[in-house]
Amino acid sequence: MTGGPTGALVTGGGRGLGARIAELLAARGHVVHVTDLDGDAARATADRIGGSAYSSALDVRDAEACEAAARTTAERAGRLAVWVNNAGVLVTGPAWTNTAEQRQLMLDVNVGGVMNGTVAAIGQMRDHGGGHVVNIASLAGLVAVPGETVYSGTKHAVMGFSLSTQADLRRAKVRDVRISCICPDGIWTPMLHDRLDDPEAALSFTGRLLAVDEVAAAVDRVLDRPRQVTAVPRWRGTQVRLLDAMPGLAVRALPLVVLQGRRTQRRLQRKGLPARLREPR
Ligand SMILES: NC(=O)c1ccc[n+]([C@@H]2O[C@H](COP(=O)([O-])OP(=O)(O)OC[C@H]3O[C@@H](n4cnc5c(N)ncnc54)[C@H](O)[C@@H]3O)[C@@H](O)[C@H]2O)c1
Repeated sequence: MTGGPTGALVTGGGRGLGARIAELLAARGHVVHVTDLDGDAARATADRIGGSAYSSALDVRDAEACEAAARTTAERAGRLAVWVNNAGVLVTGPAWTNTAEQRQLMLDVNVGGVMNGTVAAIGQMRDHGGGHVVNIASLAGLVAVPGETVYSGTKHAVMGFSLSTQADLRRAKVRDVRISCICPDGIWTPMLHDRLDDPEAALSFTGRLLAVDEVAAAVDRVLDRPRQVTAVPRWRGTQVRLLDAMPGLAVRALPLVVLQGRRTQRRLQRKGLPARLREPR
């Protein structure tokens, strides 16, 4: 490890959780490269952070662009220490109600993007001081989520890919590149903001909606102590894993859980959001 600041890149950093993670990376002393499909949003996040933070437009579906971003981040800061694969898209509904384009979009961004980012980051980290790849999956990567079906499939793919890649790194005796997956419950970001009225998204509202700060705190913890899988909150991870082990029971219980989610959606619409979530970011 060299002394002094090191480079960190976040994808989808223009808004929501990604913007909050960019702030966290800057607070941890990194030279932060904020990237997003929406270059203007990425620039706004970098401007808000100030200091050495900078931005560029990056479409995570473009493998060559991810390689180039990893290279320039390493060059600018001396080396690349952290890469956070955060960009993601959600289209709700049973798979047969999604168009082929919608299914492909979720696969390309949520799975292809994480693969492109992880491989690009490993290319720079390996043999250059190591580093940490943080992949933002979801509780939907640990259990079936009807109504967010294709999305859930993509997040399961992120888990399988990340855990397998970490094992491949061990087999290749690369011990200084770590991969951590974060699996949050529903977070109050623009992704859920427009879904209060969407019955297909009810399962995102069955737990207590998380503030971006709570998920950023989990990222902060894994950056200090890498962990392959971190559910946020942790007890929800245990709960959904138990359900996943009993798929028959889970399918029978689901209508009740969906009803609970719909009740929460209606309550939030009626009464408004709790103060800690009032500003979607
Ligand atoms: N909001 C939730 O309830 C929730 C729960 C669990 C996990 N997650 C995951 O957290 C991550 C962040 O979600 P969010 O809620 O902040 O979403 P968001 O929709 O608020 O923000 C996503 C960002 O990704 C960017 N993006 C979309 N396609 C891209 C592409 N091809 N290349 C680069 N950037 C692209 C968007 O421009 C946007 O800035 C996602 O991976 C999401 O799946 C969200």
